[in-house]
Amino acid sequence: MKLIVVGATGLVGSEIIRQSLEIGEITEVIALARHPIQVENSSSSKVKSVVVRDYAEYPEDVKAKLTGADACIWTVAITPFRASNFPFAEVKRVCQDCTLAGFKAIYEARPKSPFRFLYFSAEGTPQDPSKRPMLMGDYQVMRCNTENMVMGFPAQFPGTQICIAQPGVVTNSTTWSRAALAFLFRGVNLFTRRIPNVDRNELSAAVLHQAVYGFEKETLLNNDLVRLGQAAFKTRG
Ligand SMILES: NC(=O)c1ccc[n+]([C@@H]2O[C@H](COP(=O)([O-])OP(=O)(O)OC[C@H]3O[C@@H](n4cnc5c(N)ncnc54)[C@H](OP(=O)(O)O)[C@@H]3O)[C@@H](O)[C@H]2O)c1
Repeated sequence: MKLIVVGATGLVGSEIIRQSLEIGEITEVIALARHPIQVENSSSSKVKSVVVRDYAEYPEDVKAKLTGADACIWTVAITPFRASNFPFAEVKRVCQDCTLAGFKAIYEARPKSPFRFLYFSAEGTPQDPSKRPMLMGDYQVMRCNTENMVMGFPAQFPGTQICIAQPGVVTNSTTWSRAALAFLFRGVNLFTRRIPNVDRNELSAAVLHQAVYGFEKETLLNNDLVRLGQAAFKTRG
């Protein structure tokens, strides 16, 4: 199968690319990002790095490389921690407008049918845009509207299947401070997972499994992603 990973240089996208090399069913990976990706196993020819200047712009030569995809995992967003560094209009453009532009470009490039589109959101995103949370209200409502936009794709674009992944905190060991936090979460998770969190490796395994074998349900909450990620690792052996 041909998989497109958008935001391939990001925290989650880069791990999805790394794990996609280990999955035999995936025969071609388009790693779409604003910079070329570095693949550890550079001898692998199934990952193709495709660079866009902006996630809203898809020139014809880029679209040609997107043709015939079976699935796409969309990870692009300005996360809440970084949102205060940008005007809100830019945050909305990257999170929402670029998702629509990217989806349309892939669809215009004639994907396979069914075409699976897995969109990353976050647990806690409100379901109803009229229920504005106290904390980061504009941001949360915008992410809710983006989820609703994605949920409307199957009706508008025949052959499309969608899934919204809603992880909690994505734990990882990419820096010392993140490794320390991940260690802390691992300890606390033995007793409770009150603050939803998922290990980056498990999260990536979960969404890859869903992209390859089909979506279990429309929205995958943090607990679903933990369960699916752990199960996917077991079946990979
Ligand atoms: N990390 C978490 O703890 C967490 C928790 C819950 C949900 N999520 C969600 O999971 C998804 C992936 O998260 P992540 O941690 O992997 O995010 P990330 O690494 O910060 O960013 C993901 C991608 O978004 C693109 N991006 C970020 N800022 C941009 C900007 N200003 N302009 C254009 N593109 C920009 C980046 O593209 P370039 O690489 O080309 O710059 C990057 O590849 C997001 O939807 C996020 O909200 C993350």
